[in-house]
This record gives sequence, structure tokens and C-alpha cells, in this order.
Amino acid sequence: MKILVVGGGGREHAIIWKLKQNKRIDEIHCAPGNGGIAQLATCVPIQATDIDGLTDYAKKHHFDLVIVAPDDPLYMGLVDKLQAEGIRAFGPTADAACIEGSKVYAKYLMQKYGIPTAACEVFDDYDKAAIYVNSCKTPLVVKADGLALGKGVIICQTTDEAIDALKEIMVDKVFGEAGSRVVIEEFLEGPEVSVLAFCDGKTILPMESAQDHKRAFDGDKGPNTGGMGTFSPSPKYTDEIRKETEETIIRRTVEALNAEGVCFKGIIFFGLMLTKDGPKLLEYNARFGDPEAQVVLPRLKNDLLEVFDAVIDGTLDEFTLEWDERSAVCVVMASGGYPGKYPKGVRISGIDNVRNAVVYHAGTALKDDAFVTNGGRVLGITALGVDLSDARVKAYAEVKKVQFDGVQYRTDIGIK
Ligand SMILES: Nc1ncnc2c1ncn2[C@@H]1O[C@H](COP(=O)(O)OP(=O)(O)O)[C@@H](O)[C@H]1O
Ligand SMILES: [Mg+2]
Repeated sequence: MKILVVGGGGREHAIIWKLKQNKRIDEIHCAPGNGGIAQLATCVPIQATDIDGLTDYAKKHHFDLVIVAPDDPLYMGLVDKLQAEGIRAFGPTADAACIEGSKVYAKYLMQKYGIPTAACEVFDDYDKAAIYVNSCKTPLVVKADGLALGKGVIICQTTDEAIDALKEIMVDKVFGEAGSRVVIEEFLEGPEVSVLAFCDGKTILPMESAQDHKRAFDGDKGPNTGGMGTFSPSPKYTDEIRKETEETIIRRTVEALNAEGVCFKGIIFFGLMLTKDGPKLLEYNARFGDPEAQVVLPRLKNDLLEVFDAVIDGTLDEFTLEWDERSAVCVVMASGGYPGKYPKGVRISGIDNVRNAVVYHAGTALKDDAFVTNGGRVLGITALGVDLSDARVKAYAEVKKVQFDGVQYRTDIGIK
């Protein structure tokens, strides 16, 4: 079997690492991949958003399956395009990916089908939005409708801040067309938990929970990032909360999509906030989270290709997911300066010394047979342990073996 994976970060490395456990797969290609992925797969320099380039490549090489991992190509219709060419593809079609690509659409679904979420209003007119904001209590949350590289959500402590946010998004269009509409939302409080689920359009199978750390520095200080580390499972996601979430949020979502005539095949990421009034849904993503995949996939005992096949074929109802009871902690090692400006091409040493963890490459490249940095988030080091604190100790012991100039990582992953 020959497979193409689209994407080139830590998530894609984790997917390929997991797929490699299946002996039926002879060959994996990855577009564009990275330095670490190049050790497991043939990397091809086609960007994940080059829909025509990827379709041509897939046609030319006769892949048995194409796995589309990042959000942009899903929303741009890569899966639709591949399917139209008769190529088997994993991931939601563009209309289904709208649950992530449009926050307005996601909130419409949640409200219409009684899925617990923050109260909100939607606006496409700046003046009306500003009048509304002036009548609201603060804090409140302003969200650009479309994909905005994880920067389109602004928590506003005061009315002035909310007006400034509306101006940036709707008038200055800092996120382009993604800001033609905004969601203005009630501010919720509580711990955040991520739950991923495989969905074949009818059956939805939740995976084990995870928690991430978005801020750059220890103690949740500093600017927001793509994610500085994760752990799984979340002790806050108790059996009782799990049951309630599965009933009121996860299953209701599939019913909602079906009632709207949308067949979602792929992975749904539920971004939850555990409030004092119960679990509420902040957002959907239409794919594996990064770095959530790096702690959930190492705990999955099933063969990943078999799960992907069941999703595509609509046979998840015959499937049971099995999990490693151990906990996983992933510590992200980032370039100095990230998420601001950072250098590239810095030599990385010590990866070969890592023994008790898996090193997932995110932003690395190979240069003269050595790994160098090639992005903000460089590596994710995942260790398993009997409990969270054991996994933490193991992950950090391995992190210390890897060095590069300017390296920056949090020392409190898994503590919150
Ligand atoms: N209603 C809300 N109340 C409090 N915090 C929120 C709310 N909505 C979002 N947030 C915070 O903003 C973050 C980003 O929002 P989210 O809806 O997940 O969008 P995205 O991941 O696309 O930026 C969340 O992880 C959460 O910390
Ligand atoms: Mg989010």
C-alpha cells in the first residue's frame, strides 16, 4: 500500500509514526514533511495549500490513500477534489470542514441543536456590532468568523478593548475576509479540555481527553502560541463529565450535522470549557490538534489505518477503540523568540540520545545529514508513564538531552 500524508508538522510526524506500525503499508510520502518525517517517508516539496499540485501528485503516483491533516487544505476542498478524481482520501469535505472554518456556522449548529455553548450574537456590520458591545457586560469575547491562524479570538476586559477588537477585525480587516463577520460571545470560565473523536458520518467514537498549554511561558504567561505542550488524559475530565459531554455535546453534534444534511467523515476536535454549569463547547476543529495528536496517538492501541478505513467506509459502529492506560506528556521545544521572530537553520544535537520517549519533529530540516531548526515549534518530546507525574519526569529527562542555541520550552507541562 502507498499512502500520501499532507502536512509537515509534529502532528503529521505522529500520524506517520503510528501508521508505520502497520505492515501492509509499503510506502509513505509526505507533502511537504520535515527533517524527522524524512526518516520515515519520502518528503515532497509541495505545500499543504497547493491543492492542484497535491492532486496532480496524487494522480501521478497512484496512492491508495491520501490523508489530509491540516485545516487549510480541508477547508479549501482538497478532499472533495481528490474524491472527484477517484482518489481515496481521509478527512472531511469542505462543507463539513465548515464546523471549523466558520465560527458563525459552528455557533449556528450549537444553538439550533441545543449543544451547550457560550451565549452569542453574530454581526456583519461594524456599527451594529459596536452598539451591541456598548450594551454588554465585560469581559466579553470577540471572534472573527473565518480561519485566522489561531489569532482571531480576542478576550476583551473592557468595552473599549472590545470596540478596538471590532475595528481591527471588521474595519482594518487584519484577518482579511475571515473578519467580514464576527461572533460576540459571553465570557466563560473554567479549565479547558480537548476531546478528539473519529466520525464516519453516523457513528462517533471519542478518543481519550487531552489538555494543551497555549501560552509561551511557565505559569500560562506570555503570548499565545500554537501549543507548547500537552498531556493525556486530563484528570479534570472525570467519568461523570465524560458522560455528560458525550451526551450533550459529542453525540448531539453528529445528530445536528445529519439533520443539516452534512456527512462529516474524519476527526472532530471538541474544544471544551468545564464551567460550573457543566461542560460547554468553545469550538470545533475538523482535524487532529497539534500537539494533541502527539499525546493521544501514542496511547491508541488500535491500528490507525484500520480506524481511518472504518471512517471512510462508514463502519465505525463495528469498531472499539482501545487505549494504553498510561499517561502521556509532550513537551514542545521551540526556537528562541517564538512566537515572535526567531532564527532558522540552527543546528540541533542530542536527538540520538533520547531513549525513553518519542521525538516528533515539527519545524526541522536536514542539512548535510544533520538536523537544523526550520520553524517556531521545533520538536515535541512525548513520554509515557504510569501516571502524569511519571510521564512528566520521563519527558523532561529526555528534553535535557536535546540542545540547540536559543532553545525555549516550558518546564510546567502537565502540572495544571
Ligand atoms: N467564550 C469564551 N470564554 C472564555 N474564553 C474563551 C471563550 N471562547 C474562547 N476562549 C478562549 O480563547 C481560546 C481560543 O478560542 P477558540 O474558540 O478555541 O478559537 P481558535 O482556537 O480558533 O483561536 C480558547 O482556547 C479559550 O481559551
Ligand atoms: Mg481553539
